[in-house]
Amino acid sequence: MSQERSDTLVLFGATGDLAHKKIFPALYAMVAKGTLNEPVIGVAFDPWDIAKLQARARDGIVNAIGSIDEKIFARLASLLRYVSGDYRAPATFDKLKTALGSAQRPLHYLAVPPAMFEVVVQGLEQSGAAQGARLMVEKPFGHDLQSARWLNRVLHLVFDEKLIFRIDHYLGKEAIQNLLYFRFANSFLEPIWNRNFVESVQITMAEDFGVEGRGRFYDEVGCIRDVIENHLLNILLLLAMEPPVGRSADDLIDEKVQVLRAIRTLTRDDVVRGQFDGYLNEPGVAPNSPVETFAAVRFFVDTWRWQDVPFFIRAGKSLPVHATEVIVRLKRPPLDVFDPIKPGDCNHVRFRIDPQVAISIGARRKAPGDDMVGEQVELTALDDSKGDMPPYERLIGDAMNGNGQLFTRQDASELAWRIVGPVLGDTTAPAIYAPKTWGPTEAMTGFGPPNGWINPSK
Ligand code: BG6
Repeated sequence: MSQERSDTLVLFGATGDLAHKKIFPALYAMVAKGTLNEPVIGVAFDPWDIAKLQARARDGIVNAIGSIDEKIFARLASLLRYVSGDYRAPATFDKLKTALGSAQRPLHYLAVPPAMFEVVVQGLEQSGAAQGARLMVEKPFGHDLQSARWLNRVLHLVFDEKLIFRIDHYLGKEAIQNLLYFRFANSFLEPIWNRNFVESVQITMAEDFGVEGRGRFYDEVGCIRDVIENHLLNILLLLAMEPPVGRSADDLIDEKVQVLRAIRTLTRDDVVRGQFDGYLNEPGVAPNSPVETFAAVRFFVDTWRWQDVPFFIRAGKSLPVHATEVIVRLKRPPLDVFDPIKPGDCNHVRFRIDPQVAISIGARRKAPGDDMVGEQVELTALDDSKGDMPPYERLIGDAMNGNGQLFTRQDASELAWRIVGPVLGDTTAPAIYAPKTWGPTEAMTGFGPPNGWINPSK
């Protein structure tokens, strides 16, 4: 497969929310750095002209960055084209084909709901616009194993797997890349990174806001599909995987797939579901909706390295803080030589993913004074996040360059759905929790890592 760079970016869903909030700011940043010089063809149903699309792009950039450099924006605006039309109409794709001109290797980016994937991919094929092209698709990639398999079949009718780039924007985050780097560029972790030393792993993604006008979308999805099956499971894979044998995209993804294959399929006993009080009043949410806005899930990875070590993932909307972090808790020392160590006060490694990026080692040291009494401390390497590349910028650039390392391969997409399958679509009522609390505390009694959860601070 040639790694030749794509010579045009085609953005389906150009008038949509994702394009406004994330994609145009990413394109602007790429233009500013000189990493995007190719034409960008927006495609959408709305009968806009190019001026309206440019105004929309400008608005998204100002919202995201707070200001705009007119010279840079003028360069981006000069790259923009717009094709409007119904995705079901062949004429839309004929217009696109004309707009593509002499492009040899376009990247078609489907920032549209998955229900539209089939019709767009067929339109691309029938018009000849799929010729030599790559395809990038947004999440959610299906809503269960069956639909993911079906989507894969539909895409493969036209695009070879190597030409398909399934986005999980978490994989484009600096902190997630750092997690992988930290594990495999240091040797001190390896001897302890296994069932002999690790007591448990917990991953928390807390958001201090609700569904923010996305009630209709969220109510069809729920917390497990929205962030656990993809973003947070991907973090688990990076923590649990073996070192890749090489640097190619497949080398890395092969190791993740090995972990996915070893993760036990969930049962309802592995999950506690919650819903914040007030969710039912959100616009777009069905009356008495049983959809969860919080979930805590227990995973087991049946490998030589991880047998019997529980991996917990907890995520929710309307929690007290906005933070994502991982705690790898080590077992306690075999004897209390000095003061008794409380069960939760063992060594740990903390990876802070959001909003700041940090890695900390939790340890005990002697508290100042006469007695041999200890206290918990953390040794922290904090990254000020300056210069971090936002995920969409990194991922669009990678897909244009044909680098699939940070994208989800077909087998991985299907295995993840296999794991969560039995706990999806639960219609029993979730436990209600008060907004700005750590989820349904009563329902969580006895459910969690041995020695408890550690709540991230602000
Ligand atoms: C999205 C989910 O994929 O990720 C949202 O649909 C969630 O519900 C978001 O808020 C979190 O991503 P980030 O990068 O803002 O932490």
